[in-house]
Amino acid sequence: MTTTASAPTPSGTTRCEEIYTSPSPSFWGTGPTSLVRDLCAERPVDGLKALDAGCGEGRNARHLARHGARVHAMDVSEAALARAASLCGHVPHVTWERADITTRPLTDDWYDLVVAYSLTHWLDGPAAVAALTGRLRAATAPGGLHLYCAFNARVPYPHTGTQQPTLLGHQEHLDLYAGWEIVRATDTDLHDEHPGEGPHIHSMTRIVARRPR
Ligand SMILES: C[S@@+](CC[C@H](N)C(=O)[O-])C[C@H]1O[C@@H](n2cnc3c(N)ncnc32)[C@H](O)[C@@H]1O
Repeated sequence: MTTTASAPTPSGTTRCEEIYTSPSPSFWGTGPTSLVRDLCAERPVDGLKALDAGCGEGRNARHLARHGARVHAMDVSEAALARAASLCGHVPHVTWERADITTRPLTDDWYDLVVAYSLTHWLDGPAAVAALTGRLRAATAPGGLHLYCAFNARVPYPHTGTQQPTLLGHQEHLDLYAGWEIVRATDTDLHDEHPGEGPHIHSMTRIVARRPR
């Protein structure tokens, strides 16, 4: 595994950092998330230039790369990337990078596929979410796809503590993709459980959106 660059840890990542110091080898699970799994089942992704923004332990990057995508997997957390290294081993076609996606320069019109899974609700407020999704949209090639997933405001965040997510409404998430084709969008309950946490529910917005050509 090659890891490049370094970045300051922005606010908004504290809870994830704590998670990555827990003894369990994987907090988020090792299989791909539903949008990534379904995409790879429905169409070829080999050769696509993909960005996994906030890749965490690498479950989506690994799956895409195994299906032939050229993946740029980025996370601000060194601990997350260390987890990814031990869980993924050497996966060809993945470049892992430690970087703050909110500030790292991105090339316009570059990626065929952008995955932002459970990333944006950890940003500091709606303006930061809009700014980042705008940057990710600009970095997407015409005709390129976004797989976007975030908590929404329909169900209150079930955990207490200082680190609370930014919860947009489902429609506010959709509005981030104004002018794009919405291929699929859902607002559903996720019944979740992680090591050290009891069962809980998040309301999740999932969007598959395509940039117009
Ligand atoms: C909830 S985890 C999800 C990880 C992965 N996308 C997945 O679904 O398994 C969110 C990840 O986003 C990362 N993250 C949060 N803010 C970030 C930022 N500004 N730049 C890059 N990564 C960030 C965190 O370190 C964490 O690994």
